Amino acid sequence: MERIVRVELGQRGYDIRIADDFTVALPMAGEGRAALVVADAHTGPLYAAAVQELLADRGFACTYHEVPAGEGSKSLAQLGILLERAVAAGLDRKSLIVALGGGVIGDLAGCAAAVYLRGVAFLQIPTSLLAMVDSAVGGKTGVNLPQGKNLVGAFYQPVAVAANLATLESLPEREYRSGLAEVIKYGIIYDADFFAYLEQQQAALLRRAPEVLGEVVARCCEIKAAVVAQDERESGLRAILNYGHTLGHALEAVAGYGVLLHGEAVALGMVYANLVSTTVLGFPSEDARRITALLEAWGLPVRLPGTFGWEALRGVMATDKKADRRVPTLVLAEAMGRVRFGCRVPEAELAGVYARFAGGAAA
Ligand code: GLY
Repeated sequence: MERIVRVELGQRGYDIRIADDFTVALPMAGEGRAALVVADAHTGPLYAAAVQELLADRGFACTYHEVPAGEGSKSLAQLGILLERAVAAGLDRKSLIVALGGGVIGDLAGCAAAVYLRGVAFLQIPTSLLAMVDSAVGGKTGVNLPQGKNLVGAFYQPVAVAANLATLESLPEREYRSGLAEVIKYGIIYDADFFAYLEQQQAALLRRAPEVLGEVVARCCEIKAAVVAQDERESGLRAILNYGHTLGHALEAVAGYGVLLHGEAVALGMVYANLVSTTVLGFPSEDARRITALLEAWGLPVRLPGTFGWEALRGVMATDKKADRRVPTLVLAEAMGRVRFGCRVPEAELAGVYARFAGGAAA
């Protein structure tokens, strides 16, 4: 069954197609245009041939570019190599850059599409749960600097997002569960009924039941599309998509990139955000417990997997893109499905709640 979610951005609007195969998910025509398909050493061997065949059937002249798997490829060095490959492949202004993979590939290839010849068309084919529900939607592209994540990039919308749910079958368990953390986030920030649905379907989601996955990916995309349509460039509301990410990003950086998967760090960051929300905004402890229970049921971490000093984490939080003159502004929950963004929390409160969290408090 095919599901279509529209991202309403006027002339830059596009469809997210969610289907069980590439043929249905990818309906575009190429009429002799060049396409550069970018994948990593994991997804490329699995899917690049099928995608290139399909694009060729539709008139595209395809070239393939593979980058090493992992966050390390979101670098200026890999961006440079990719851009030079685009020149070598003869890409012109009518050409298409295709991201076939997870968040790293989408961010890197999107960044290349945004700057190559001052912008060429860009197609997202996400193959991880995290990319389908989050990073492939909404036009954030970028690479990391040694000083921090996503410090270089552009808001640059794809022409379409083609999600083939069958690709999730081959996703390693840990990565799949990491994507589920972002799924839970949508319930917390926007839709209490969706959170209850996730609780009901927790076993089906662990089994990767296709029908439930289709529903869940579509609902997450609807929520993200609604938020992005109101605030494409994150001048306000879009910040809610970062619930749990302020501490989450800091944990990823302090642990060393790749030690904690993004969703694992976000799971921990959401538990911390729940605790701060309970303390500062009176977020019901009962709801915090429900969130922790669902994270645990899906095998996501809810307690720190080691010692992380507050000073180091707070230092990274100061460089967060949402920080205001080095003071982090947080997204906090008022009730299940309702959050506030831009919250400034007294330093003592941030540190005090962290001490409780580091001591094992999880709700
Ligand atoms: N991943 C958060 C956003 O797209 O805004």
